Amino acid sequence: MSKPLRKVVFPVAGLGTRFLPATKVVAKEMLPVLDKPLIQYAVDEAVDAGADTLIFVTNRYKHAIADYFDKAYELESKLQEKGKAELLALVQGTLPRHVRAIFVTQPEALGLGHAVLCAKPVVGDEPFGVILPDDLIWNGQMGAGAGKGALRQMAELADAQQAGVIAVEEVPHSDTDKYGIVDATPVDDRSALIRYMVEKPKPADAPSNLAVVGRYVLPGRIFQLLEQTTPGAGGEIQLTDAIEALLKEQGKVLAYRFEGIRFDCGNKAGLVRATMHMAMQDPKLAPTVRAFLGQL
Ligand code: G1P
Repeated sequence: MSKPLRKVVFPVAGLGTRFLPATKVVAKEMLPVLDKPLIQYAVDEAVDAGADTLIFVTNRYKHAIADYFDKAYELESKLQEKGKAELLALVQGTLPRHVRAIFVTQPEALGLGHAVLCAKPVVGDEPFGVILPDDLIWNGQMGAGAGKGALRQMAELADAQQAGVIAVEEVPHSDTDKYGIVDATPVDDRSALIRYMVEKPKPADAPSNLAVVGRYVLPGRIFQLLEQTTPGAGGEIQLTDAIEALLKEQGKVLAYRFEGIRFDCGNKAGLVRATMHMAMQDPKLAPTVRAFLGQL
């Protein structure tokens, strides 16, 4: 991989059944953590990593995501008229001017690997990032001492090492069947050479408790490998299986323990934790939250 990371893919075609009934009409990526939808945190992280082309893999029920990043003429002119400059900047700032959003559809829910493959015509043959917006990773972006976003850390490593990079984190051993799991040889405190990867193994079969979380930097070659990937765990075309094939072919894919805290906002407990964490970062909200927790 010799080019910098310009394109990031967001697979957002999932049904969000864990948040029904809200997700009957609201895309799960539009659920807010305080005042920002999950997808905005993901987009901010991609832009921080240098991306200027964002590819949303969506389905026919997810118009809200395209609407959210579109220009809101009526709202913007009302805010302008009323001199609400701060609010106007917020509304206009969902997507920076130099960044474009491209929407491709995933006609059938055939798995994460298939969703990523749908982005092939837009990405072409260059390294690209994948962000699963359910996994919100915070590294001080909101307050003082802002750190690099997880994807930027990974893009830098991918470029320096000329290799694919997958974000990982230790999880309880009993949870291995919820994640892609890697077996890896440590290189330093944060990175390791992956030996083997497997999607959602039972705890008894898992090679470790080092789990893939929703960030990837991959070479364009992955698309050809995805085309050859047959359904795996859960009967779905798994990205993990294509990365395992990449590993066999290229011999080098890195697992990276990112700097930051990850919130699994694909479930209620994670969304509550993320919301409380973000509220505690906000000097105006923190005292209220602390006092209320005391009362509870
Ligand atoms: C997907 C991936 C899995 C990864 C997880 C991280 O699974 O297939 O390898 O560990 O995201 O959130 P999903 O959560 O879509 O079932």
